[in-house]
Amino acid sequence: MQILDGKQTSLDIQQEIAQEVQVLVDEGKKKPHLAAILVGNNGASETYVGAKVKACERVGFDSTLLRFDESITEDELVAEVNKINNDTNIDGLIVQLPLPSHINEMTITETILPSKDVDGFHPQNIGKMALNLPTFLPATPAGIVELIKRYNIDTEGKHCVVVGRSHIVGSPMSILMARNSYPGNCTVTLTHSRTTNLKELCLTADILIVALGRAEFITADMVKDGACVIDVGISRVKSDKTKSGWKLKGDVNYDEVAPKCDFITPVPGGVGPMTIAMLLKNTLYAVKGFN
Ligand code: GUN
Repeated sequence: MQILDGKQTSLDIQQEIAQEVQVLVDEGKKKPHLAAILVGNNGASETYVGAKVKACERVGFDSTLLRFDESITEDELVAEVNKINNDTNIDGLIVQLPLPSHINEMTITETILPSKDVDGFHPQNIGKMALNLPTFLPATPAGIVELIKRYNIDTEGKHCVVVGRSHIVGSPMSILMARNSYPGNCTVTLTHSRTTNLKELCLTADILIVALGRAEFITADMVKDGACVIDVGISRVKSDKTKSGWKLKGDVNYDEVAPKCDFITPVPGGVGPMTIAMLLKNTLYAVKGFN
């Protein structure tokens, strides 16, 4: 069994990006600049956006964090996004989700200029991804693809089962693993809350990608021997074994599933750090193009 070390891989990628930034700077070009919009006081969102801004600093990007009160209207937020669209100094923009319920997330996503949409959430970019055209890939699926690539995991002809159909992870993941490329060329099954035979399907997975947000949902009896298991979940659960009283758990019961696997991602330190690395990579693409 090999652990897919997302933490180390993310650091490797960040180092590669930092070197590319240095080349841009040496050529007298401007540093990539990422803007992040955060609305309200969602604790998890604060943590994620804080980590993204810090990562920008680490690789030498400029960053701008724009915070707005929960009471901001949809029209006001659209106007703020348009300001950034028109700011030639800013290369990439992310609007951290979820947004307050009075704001339509798709309206905001569609307002972001596709060429600055480094989250890869704009319908135009999702369409390009589905057609295998060069574009920004959503960061978490892109991180999983990159991990599979860097660990040379064979995907051609394999059965990939994706658990969860979110717009951010499950749905794009199913598209990427089915594409005619590497990683890809899998036979893909996308499962969700209405799937009736989840356990049977999971048991046939050569590659099992789990993104449903329920701690330790996948147990050893749901996993085939020799599978590659990618765990996207991250839930905070009570624990009397830690000082803080909390522990981070994935969607996979790691202790019982890991011994059956050829490859597995840990939580934390698996997919999570890769998401940030790929967001930075997308921001670099916004500056340099997709070569
Ligand atoms: N909320 C959860 N994941 C993400 C992400 O990757 N990007 C944005 N903008 N919001 C999120």
